[in-house]
Amino acid sequence: MAHIFDIAGAIRDTSGLYKDGVKIDPNRVKFPSTDVFHGINKASRIEGDIFDLEVTGSIPPEIDGTFFRVQPDHRYPPIYEDDIHFNGDGNVTAIRISHGHAHFKQRYVHTERYRHETAAGRALFGRYRNPYTDNEVVKGVIRTAANTNVFFWRGMLLATKEDGPAYAMDPETLDTIGRYDFEGQVLSPTFTAHPKFDPVTGEMVCYGYEAGGNGNDGSCDIVVYTISPDGFKTEEAWYKAPFCGIIHDCGISENYLVLPMTPLKCDAERLKNGENHWAWDPEEDQIVPRPHCRVLRGREWPDCLRPDCRRRQCLLLLPSRRQAGDDSEAHQQDHALDLRPKGQERLVRGTV
Ligand SMILES: [Fe+2]
Repeated sequence: MAHIFDIAGAIRDTSGLYKDGVKIDPNRVKFPSTDVFHGINKASRIEGDIFDLEVTGSIPPEIDGTFFRVQPDHRYPPIYEDDIHFNGDGNVTAIRISHGHAHFKQRYVHTERYRHETAAGRALFGRYRNPYTDNEVVKGVIRTAANTNVFFWRGMLLATKEDGPAYAMDPETLDTIGRYDFEGQVLSPTFTAHPKFDPVTGEMVCYGYEAGGNGNDGSCDIVVYTISPDGFKTEEAWYKAPFCGIIHDCGISENYLVLPMTPLKCDAERLKNGENHWAWDPEEDQIVPRPHCRVLRGREWPDCLRPDCRRRQCLLLLPSRRQAGDDSEAHQQDHALDLRPKGQERLVRGTV
């Protein structure tokens, strides 16, 4: 079986732009020769419009709407030779289709990161989610590249990435309106790229992990918000995770929010040493037992799913507002929960 490094793209530059992994001339606009910046991952670096795209075949006249997408798209060559695709600036495309014609528009999300690097004419932010590797001139600047997801919220297009706040854009012009904190109601340093919308109430159920500090320091704090369709925060609850692991997406049911946490762990000391934000911990269980299998790799699967019990677990199942009223009662309910599918927990929106 091939090792992951055997099939991963080359991460060493062969064009002489980097020495000991760091760009020699930070002002030279030339991307490394690594596979991360080649082929389909090559940065487009385009902002612009194309009126009336060439079309293969024909577009049914009934189609009338806009397809939005966001992609990581490095504005400048990275400081570090082994930089990754997910560290690229968010660049949003809108393809408008109407009367059998298609029109193209693309604009970067003009984040604080984008503005600072554009003004400097070079990359200033270092490794993915490691502020210790940034240029001194951007210390304290919001690092997020808003490159993961776009969705509509009350007339705006929100561009998001889980390491920072959302950015609001005009869906017509794709102009960036600015950092969006839900009119001062969502102040956590991190916000998920994948909120869910309750199909019955229209509420946005959202969260931030690694939310207790600056968003890039290994905090175990998780915050969960519910925002009403008319924009009012109706719930804010804080939880302690058993470790700082990545929680990229979530699912909601009528009564629960499911936060799957994989053992890609952050370590504050590793960050200070200028290394990667995430590292896989092979000691953590990652397999959920099937029915009739209560013992996994010689260890009993924990019954309690509440994060404050500090058991080792990979799935945080949080009671919704309706079930979380009395803590002791809610705790009893959680102890009685079982991961096995029972049929009554209907997942209304799953992982994208
Ligand atoms: Fe995603």
